[in-house]
Formats: sequence, structure tokens, C-alpha cells
Amino acid sequence: MSITIVVGASSGIGQAAAIRAAEGGSGVIVTYNSNKDGAAETVSRIQEAGGTAVALPLDVGDSATFPAFRTAVEQALADTWGAQKFTGLVNNAGMGGGTLFADTTEEQLDHFYSVIFKGPYLVTQALLPLLDDGGAIVNTASNSAGTAGLSEGYSAYGSMKGAVIVLTRYLAKELSGRRIRVNSVSPGPTRTPFAGGAFEEFPEMTAQLVQRTALGRIGEPDDAGSVIAFLLSDGARWVTAQDIEVAGGFNL
Ligand SMILES: NC(=O)c1ccc[n+]([C@@H]2O[C@H](COP(=O)([O-])OP(=O)(O)OC[C@H]3O[C@@H](n4cnc5c(N)ncnc54)[C@H](OP(=O)(O)O)[C@@H]3O)[C@@H](O)[C@H]2O)c1
Repeated sequence: MSITIVVGASSGIGQAAAIRAAEGGSGVIVTYNSNKDGAAETVSRIQEAGGTAVALPLDVGDSATFPAFRTAVEQALADTWGAQKFTGLVNNAGMGGGTLFADTTEEQLDHFYSVIFKGPYLVTQALLPLLDDGGAIVNTASNSAGTAGLSEGYSAYGSMKGAVIVLTRYLAKELSGRRIRVNSVSPGPTRTPFAGGAFEEFPEMTAQLVQRTALGRIGEPDDAGSVIAFLLSDGARWVTAQDIEVAGGFNL
């Protein structure tokens, strides 16, 4: 039985990944932080399509809550699927907000560290005993960590996403003994609530991004969600330690 935990599945890429994973036959635990209604919508959409999903709250910026989250996962696995283990983990939670290097405060830097790097690191560690041998982990990084995706104002965010890509390779190495595959995706500009409606609000910015994108449009949540679901699936059984850019050829 396949059961996937998608951390940060109340909207955008995580919601799309959860729905795709369910379409592929996986049960799904979706997590949310502030957007409980969004998580309920993800669950409803999965259930309407004949799948099984439950929603749990999790603030990945608060590692003190991780032992209780693990207990809640154990409970959900037992109650919903009569299972003790899950098979896939997607570390997708994240938030934007660009600030120029010269203006970035220590508080902002700490926030990016705790939500984008420390959280996924420690939540994966906390859940590891419940992840079945032969399972898969997918981390959502960003093309802001690559050489072709740089925009001013993302030094803290992009650096933490770079750390996620490096962590992905270390986890792939250390967990290979249990045949657990670990990969990341690096989306380019994608139309989600993450950008706070910026694509609609600043059409000139959108036009510039489209111009820099070889395939000629902005990414949609499912563009990344479907790649995440593929990396979780048996179709990607020989893929590990990879970062897959999902950006339509941004700056190609
Ligand atoms: N959109 C882009 O252009 C883009 C590009 C590259 C990479 N990404 C990455 O893609 C991932 C998904 O973002 P998205 O674009 O789909 O944006 P989104 O729709 O805003 O989704 C972000 C998700 O992360 C969750 N989240 C945020 N802070 C959290 C916290 N402290 N604890 C737990 N969950 C938290 C949100 O939960 P709540 O809403 O419930 O709080 C939501 O489910 C992020 O890691 C982001 O960095 C996005």
C-alpha cells in the first residue's frame, strides 16, 4: 500500500502533488499551517476522485511540535489505512518574500532557515522510522538556487533552497541502504498563492518572466505537482540524488 505525506499541501504545488499522488493510487496525508480550508479542499478533491486523504496541522518552523506530529501521523496511518508505515514524503512547505541582501534582517534570515531548511531536515528525521524501506522522499527546492534562476532579492531564500538540494544528495546516500530514494524538484516561476497574486497584479513582471521562459508561459502548480508524483512513483525507481528543474526552460 502506498501512503504519501505531503507537507504544505493546502494550496499550490503541494496541493497539486497530493492530488496527483492520489490519482496514482496513493493514500495521502496532507498538512497545512494557516490554511485549514485549503487542506480540506485538497482532501475533498482527492475523496471526490475516489481516493483517501486526511489533513493534519504542522508548522515546519516549530520543531518542538515534531514529536507530536509524528504521533498524529501514526494515529492517522492506523485509523485511516490500518497501517504502521508510510511510503512517500514530500517536503514542500515554503514561503516567499524577497529582500535585497543589504536589507535582510537576522530575523528574516532565521525564518527562512527554520521553515525552508531546518524544518524539512528535522521533520524528515522525526518521520524516518515510519517511512517504509523502498520508499521515496521529494524535496521542493527552487530554480532560485541554480545558476539560471537568479533574481535580486532572494539571497536568503535561494541559499536555503540550495542547502535543500545538497541535503537531498546526502539523504539519498545515507538512506540508500534502506532503498529509500531521495530527489528534489526546482520549480521556476509558478502561479500559486506563494507569489501573493503578483502575476495578476504586475502583468509587466509576468510578461518579462514569460519572455525568459523557453516554453513561453508561467508555470502552473500541476507542472511541478506531476513531476513530484512521478518521482514518488515506481516509474522513477532508478532515480535518486537528482534535482529536476521544472521551469519550462527558464533562461535557457
Ligand atoms: N511558486 C513559485 O514560483 C515557486 C518557485 C520555486 C519554488 N517554490 C516552492 O514551492 C513550494 C510550494 O510553494 P507554492 O508556490 O505552491 O506556494 P503556496 O501555494 O503558498 O504553498 C505553500 C505551502 O507551504 C505551506 N507553509 C508555508 N509556511 C509553512 C510553515 N511554517 N509550516 C508548514 N507549512 C507551511 C503553506 O501552508 P499554509 O498556507 O496552510 O500556511 C502551503 O501549503 C515552496 O517550498 C516554495 O518555496 C515555489
